[in-house]
Amino acid sequence: MTAETTHATATGQDVRTRQHPARIVAFVNQKGGVGKTTSTVNIAAALALHHTRILVVDIDPQGNATSSFGIDRHSLEATLYDALVGDVEPADSIVPEVRACIDLLPATPVLAGAEVELVDQPRREHRLASTLQAVRNNYDVVLIDSPPSLGLLTVNALTAANGVVIPVQCEYLALEGVSQVLATIDLIRRGLNPTLELLGVLMTMYDGRTRLSAHVVEEVRRYFPDHLFSAVIPRSVRLAEAPSYGQVIAEYDPASRGAVAYAEVAAELRDRLATFE
Ligand SMILES: Nc1ncnc2c1ncn2[C@@H]1O[C@H](COP(=O)(O)OP(=O)(O)OP(=O)(O)O)[C@@H](O)[C@H]1O
Ligand SMILES: [Mg+2]
Repeated sequence: MTAETTHATATGQDVRTRQHPARIVAFVNQKGGVGKTTSTVNIAAALALHHTRILVVDIDPQGNATSSFGIDRHSLEATLYDALVGDVEPADSIVPEVRACIDLLPATPVLAGAEVELVDQPRREHRLASTLQAVRNNYDVVLIDSPPSLGLLTVNALTAANGVVIPVQCEYLALEGVSQVLATIDLIRRGLNPTLELLGVLMTMYDGRTRLSAHVVEEVRRYFPDHLFSAVIPRSVRLAEAPSYGQVIAEYDPASRGAVAYAEVAAELRDRLATFE
């Protein structure tokens, strides 16, 4: 589903001619710790293995997607904050090639200030959309990792996005929080971004030893018969360990169940994105 044709030039460099701008996907759930960041970075890595050009946007002041790629926040000259609030060109705040085919628009705790500083700015919900407009032609897919809240930063992610993936942890009352995400998506559709689509619901931290996990997946499937990803992410200590080495699971343990599951989800996502025009 790559959006480009590649020609070799006289200098031997590739020239990428994009047929359409990147599809933008936001990973959203206001509940903390459900696997938004783990999913964003590992799906990015799995997509990049197929030479899809990816931009990962970290719009969470915790900066977990940034550190998951092994990027030290102290080494950054500019971040997403500077592109959203300051006068830094979007392209100048991107860290190129954090991996082959993956660029990163990084975040640090400073980004928390944007939530306050943007409040009385015109078109404050469209800041990320405008930022990405300037660079999205360079990519096939943009994946946005959002914070555990439905505040202005997440609203910016949903306003910029074509589609949303909701990661849901396999736990008791998993659906409770999801209704709030759905209500927010509805609100955004009615005003800021009418074409926003629910791309998928992704079950995470599935524990095959408990009946609870299977039960929760069944319940969520009943609620979202058309949107549940068929691959489910297992609870796996390997997935939890990888970021502490600054690695994605495909590097840390490519044969692990978590790596295989994220590759499957990435393939499903690729198919779903292919139906977008
Ligand atoms: N499938 C998994 N199995 C085991 N541990 C996992 C799995 N997915 C994520 N984790 C771990 O659970 C914690 C929360 O995951 P993650 O940071 O991806 O969630 P999040 O939704 O991005 O959190 P936040 O809301 O704080 O941004 C992390 O320590 C992560 O390493
Ligand atoms: Mg996170």
